[in-house]
Amino acid sequence: MSLLIKNGEIITADSRYSADIHCEGETITRIDRNLTAPAGTEVIDATGKYVFPGFIDPHVHIYLPFMGTFSKDTYETGSKAALVGGTTTLIEMCCPARADDTLKGFELWISQAVGKSACDFTFHMGVTKFNEQTETQLREIVRRGISSFKIFLAYKGAFGIDDTELYRTLKLAKELGVVVTAHCENETLVAERSKELLAAGKTDPGQHHESRPPAVEAEGVHHLMTFAELTGAATYIVHLSCKEALDQAVAARQRGVRVGIETLIQYLVLDKTYAEKPDFEGAKYVMSPPLRDARNQSVLWHGLRDGLIQTVATDHAPFDFQKQKPMGKDDFTKIPNGIPSLEERVNLLYTYGVKTGKIDLHTLVSVASTQVAKQFDLFPRKGAIQPGADADLVVFDPHYRGTISAKTQAMNVDYSAFEGWPLEGRASVVTVRGQVAARDGKFTGTLGRGQFLKRKPSHF
Ligand code: URP
Ligand code: ZN
Ligand code: ZN
Repeated sequence: MSLLIKNGEIITADSRYSADIHCEGETITRIDRNLTAPAGTEVIDATGKYVFPGFIDPHVHIYLPFMGTFSKDTYETGSKAALVGGTTTLIEMCCPARADDTLKGFELWISQAVGKSACDFTFHMGVTKFNEQTETQLREIVRRGISSFKIFLAYKGAFGIDDTELYRTLKLAKELGVVVTAHCENETLVAERSKELLAAGKTDPGQHHESRPPAVEAEGVHHLMTFAELTGAATYIVHLSCKEALDQAVAARQRGVRVGIETLIQYLVLDKTYAEKPDFEGAKYVMSPPLRDARNQSVLWHGLRDGLIQTVATDHAPFDFQKQKPMGKDDFTKIPNGIPSLEERVNLLYTYGVKTGKIDLHTLVSVASTQVAKQFDLFPRKGAIQPGADADLVVFDPHYRGTISAKTQAMNVDYSAFEGWPLEGRASVVTVRGQVAARDGKFTGTLGRGQFLKRKPSHF
């Protein structure tokens, strides 16, 4: 099967030119002007449109047992939502509970995706405890194609690890060339502050921010950076939300600490006043770290523009507003954490980042595709438009105008955090390894066709 994308304006992380793209089977084979289509070729006219490399979300939760419930998407619904929004590869956090067997956890997470996902996928292996058996199993998991770990400095008693475990995980990662991704918040501070707030009768969703203010996140980042400095391990801070945390990471980088930084689309476009909405409406906007004061948004946009921050993810974690968020009706610490955004990341980055002049098109491609592929050992198979790369392509229509609504979304969750927000542009045609998987907001792909992407560690 072959595919020809004609007359598009190709935008990569560092170039912009008009050309046609020919794909044979699953791969890009030729890029040139005035290519002609052999008989039987599917031709897509991209006149007036951009052609981007398929976008990669480096931080999603599809299968997530968490806070006494399960996140709502499956690989069937989640991969459809990803593709409709232009995301062709997912990197999911594999998060076995502390009491669970690490290798069995890995196998369980993979089994949720294989034969179900319509887009390609891989995992960050969650290290939620560390002992001799975990170490043996982590070595085996790396042999099976995983090149990144995930650790939590938050969520005491659930996913969180102690400092001895942190040190040993980083030592092992350094030996194996694995990058360690980390949720950075000081869990003791969160626990103590939460108790104080609840004791004072402060139970509403807006208090979530007070339980974990910027200093709590900055301390978590500083903590990780100290351990990274002493072990030499490559690290990556997930969902960085504020200036205080960014300052710590950048200072460590200046000392030679190896650290990549991810922010989220939610922190770029939402602020803490959303979580303070009355009548429990704020629960829709509860996640960790929390949405911050609006002044942080320009810091994060500038960080992307200037290359201080490498990637934009979603931390997609969908919990229904009607049935799941109310678990924390009288106690904000029990509100399942997460703001679903998988489907909207690229469209929001374009409308609220590129169209407003905060970032350019190349930065969009870099932070949502190419840098992700580079950080996580997928480049140049993913994140590139060049012969030999997977034919994961997004034909993007900058003339589209529409609004976001839960009524029309593919994500399996009963609300949208961006209800009624205007969009100026969206993915028009999305291909995965040469097959058209979404068109103008509708899924047209094949469930189960998504592949597990085996990765080789490179962060020695
Ligand atoms: O609020 C969040 N971030 N939910 C998902 C779990 C995590 O911490 O990544
Ligand atoms: Zn997290
Ligand atoms: Zn997460």
